[in-house]
Amino acid sequence: MRKLTKVEIITRPDKLDELKEALNAIGVAGMTVTQVFGCGLTKGHKEIYRGKEFNINLVPKVKLETVICEIPVDLVVETAKRVCQTGEVGDGKIFVYGLENAVRIRTGETGDIAIIDPA
Ligand SMILES: Nc1ncnc2c1ncn2[C@@H]1O[C@H](COP(=O)(O)OP(=O)(O)OP(=O)(O)O)[C@@H](O)[C@H]1O
Ligand SMILES: [Mg+2]
Repeated sequence: MRKLTKVEIITRPDKLDELKEALNAIGVAGMTVTQVFGCGLTKGHKEIYRGKEFNINLVPKVKLETVICEIPVDLVVETAKRVCQTGEVGDGKIFVYGLENAVRIRTGETGDIAIIDPA
């Protein structure tokens, strides 16, 4: 089976719509989106949330996870960077994981065919 990779993109909530559309445009089909709170390396820097400034931030973000096998990982990463980069602190992080397996529950298919559209 082809290698499965999970790409996790944590970024600003207001980028979600554009990110979702851009990923759809390169062929990403499945994704999971979660509303999260987080902070990164720039704890001493200030990100503003609802008009207040915090020194230690737990700032609302969205986490978008997608598992891919046919689409190049670099294409997904570059697409997310292009959409989410503003240059300001808090643009987010992208994490890339090798994935052991996937199962489509309805059919019992496993591995790469579990996430490929048969059409
Ligand atoms: N090391 C990490 N582990 C897990 N989640 C992280 C990590 N770094 C960042 N995140 C998540 O990514 C979100 C965005 O991080 P952020 O863009 O602020 O990173 P940063 O390293 O501080 O970079 P910047 O200088 O651009 O702010 C965080 O709110 C958090 O949810
Ligand atoms: Mg930061």
